[in-house]
Amino acid sequence: MKPIIWKDEYSVGVKKLDDQHLKLINAINELIELGAHGETISKEHSAFQAMLHFARGHLHYEEFLLKKYHFPDIQAHQDEHLEYLNKMEELTARLDHSEAVSTEECINFIRHWFMDHILVEDMKYKKYFEENNISI
Ligand SMILES: [Fe+2]
Ligand SMILES: [Fe+2]
Repeated sequence: MKPIIWKDEYSVGVKKLDDQHLKLINAINELIELGAHGETISKEHSAFQAMLHFARGHLHYEEFLLKKYHFPDIQAHQDEHLEYLNKMEELTARLDHSEAVSTEECINFIRHWFMDHILVEDMKYKKYFEENNISI
């Protein structure tokens, strides 16, 4: 699996959120690298913990900003975040019980969810901020 290379088109127009997205991408790339070296992912693994930690902090901060600037689709956005956190909890529980979770399946989910979310859902608030001349 290839690492994620940051592109300018991933920018959501808010420096702090771009920085958080980049940090998360780096954490995901670390997981991808572990997978490439044939290492298995466990929930105790520091790369997994770091990724989850950054993801939680980021999702909460993003929601805080969306509320603060009255983003109209906040509910749908929060629901997506919640769905992700629920899936991550499920994945963590499976890793917990040493259930068969392939490293590839695990990384694939994390990689795709995150990139799809940035490029589709996060872009919606970018448009809203731009249209309403909100600069953060
Ligand atoms: Fe985001
Ligand atoms: Fe988001």
